[in-house]
Formats: sequence, C-alpha cells, structure tokens
Amino acid sequence: MTSLLDTISEIEQSAIGELKSASDQSALEAWHIRYLGRKGKLTQVLRSLAGVANLDERRAGGQRANVAKERLEAAYSEQRSQIEEQRLSSVIAGERLDVTLPGIAVPRGRLHPVTQTMRDVLAAFVSMGFQVAEGPEIEWDHYNFEALRIPAEHPARDMWDTLWIDYEQDGRRPMLMRTHTSPNQIRIMEKTRPPVRVVVPGKCYRFEATDPTHEWMMQQVEGLAVDDGISMADLKGSLTDFARRIFGPERRTAFRCDYFPFVEPGMEMRIDCFICRGEGRLEDGRPCRTCHQTGWIEILGAGMVHPEILENVGYDSGRYTGFAFGLGIERIALLRYGIEDIRHLYANDLRFLEQF
Ligand code: DAH
Repeated sequence: MTSLLDTISEIEQSAIGELKSASDQSALEAWHIRYLGRKGKLTQVLRSLAGVANLDERRAGGQRANVAKERLEAAYSEQRSQIEEQRLSSVIAGERLDVTLPGIAVPRGRLHPVTQTMRDVLAAFVSMGFQVAEGPEIEWDHYNFEALRIPAEHPARDMWDTLWIDYEQDGRRPMLMRTHTSPNQIRIMEKTRPPVRVVVPGKCYRFEATDPTHEWMMQQVEGLAVDDGISMADLKGSLTDFARRIFGPERRTAFRCDYFPFVEPGMEMRIDCFICRGEGRLEDGRPCRTCHQTGWIEILGAGMVHPEILENVGYDSGRYTGFAFGLGIERIALLRYGIEDIRHLYANDLRFLEQF
C-alpha cells in the first residue's frame, strides 16, 4: 500500500521537477507523453491498479493517482501558456518598430507645368464669375471656320494649317482636328441665351513644323462674355485683371489692333516683358531676346464679338454685345516659368519636369 502511494508521489514529484525545464513546445509535448501519454509513467500506474487484489488499496491508489493526474495536467497547461506567452513576446520584440528611424521617402508626383498653368488660368476666370465648359476636339468645318466668318479661301483653312479627318461628304472633308477653341463660342451661344460668361479649355491641333514657340498640339482657353451693354472697357478690365492674377500685380498691359474674322474690333493683349522690365534691353545693355527688344510680350487675341455672329445664333445684336478672347496655355507657362522652348513641355523628360 505505502509503496504504491509512494511510487505515485515520486512520479508526481519528478514530473513537476522536469516540467520546469521543459522550456519549449516540443520539450513540453515529450514530457506529456512521458508521464501522461498512453504508455506514460502515471498511466501505467493507473493501469496496474487493476491487478491490485486488495479493494481498499486499489481505491486509495486510484484516488491518489487521479489527484496526481489532475495536478500534472494543470501544471502542464500552466507551463504551456507560459511558453506561448514567452514565444509571443519574443515575436513582438523581434517585430518592434522603431518609429524614430528615418523613413523611406515615397516619390512624390506633381502636376505638369501646363496643367498647373491651366488650372490657375481657369481659377482666375472662375473667380471673376466665368463658368467652365468644354467642346469636342474633332470639329466640323462649320464650327471651326464657317460660323466664325473664316471663309473657304482663308489661309487658315489651307491643308498646311489644318489636320483634316479622313471622312468625306459630297466630295469634301468637313471634319478636322480643331485648330482653336473658338468654335465653342458658337456652340455655347447656340445652346444658351445671354447673359453668357464662359471659359472653354481644350487641346487644339495644327499641321505645322515645331519650333521654340510652336507645337502641333497646344492647349487654349477661349473666353466669351455676352450681355446687355458689354463694352470694350469690360474686355480690357477683365483681361488686365486676369494678367495681374497670373503674372503678378505689378504687370502692365497694352492692347493693340489685330485682325480676327470673328471679332470687330479685334486686338491682341500684351504684357510688359518681365525679363527686361519693358525696356527692350537687359541691365547690361544687351538686347532682350524674350520680347524681341519690343519691351512687350503678346499673350492673347481678343475682340468684340462680331454682330453678324450674334445674329447667326439668334441673338439680337441691337441689344446684346460681347467680348471674346483666346489664349495659349503653353505660351503662358513658358512666360511664367521662364522656359525657353515649348518643345520641352511635351518631351516627357523627368529632369525637366522635376524642376516645377
Ligand atoms: N482663335 C484665335 C487663335 O487661335 C485666338 C482668338 C483671337 C480667340 C481673338 C478669340 C478672339 O476669341 O476674340 O489664334
């Protein structure tokens, strides 16, 4: 009797002792098999009880062995959760993030200088009460030329200036890549009644060789304001205000007569050259190349909408008047950023683009 209980106590004690040194999952499992497995030490004792003849002895041994089994199982799960906890905290320690280390810089994108300029130009007009509208890049001869009083024999309609679309109608090619945004003057007036105040951004295409100030594709902003009593003073005031918003408050503007078939009178607007400050010469006396020594830089064409155009879209030209203007965005971007060649803008060279 005593020796059976002693054996169980000994097994229990040595099991508890060994458990302390089972410091990882596999040592722990080996321990479990060794004592509590099917052929484990304690299991064997329990099994051997069947052969104990004395009933009291068998019962006492059974109870003692069950107590030992419960203690060992409890100690086992305690040890297991400790091992798991240690494993977790070492994983966490290994993955700890040092937020004081310098980060890895993410390359930052930015807007193309032409896009930046386009947005600024539109924002300037929007803040003056103009709405933004858009029209098609592939246009009818009618809107691009005819309705703007550009007759068939006008040089602008020459195949050397215009990219025609390969579509024929009655032996003619009436569709083209629009050469300017002015057709939207007609499109908008056909759809709305005065008061009109719109700006229309968009790409335009011309069949021409490129040079430092010409590209075969460029972006324009067309402007149109039609209402009761709009005068040239409104035109000059609005465009001068625009120039100051884009080029700075100290900019001077000048208007000069120019001819565009769809306006009467027509004009161009110039700003004083900001390289030579309107002098035509640099400080060291050398001639200013930016303004070709004139002291002025042309930035847009404009004029009072031709009365015939108003009548053609059903506006009463006795009552309504309006002004229109068209400016090239790349040109403005060149002036703003001091870029010497328009072709840089679309060459897609990051060394260039990253400067803006
Ligand atoms: N469409 C002209 C061009 O591309 C620019 C222009 C001039 C637009 C006078 C206008 C204007 O609205 O009134 O050269």
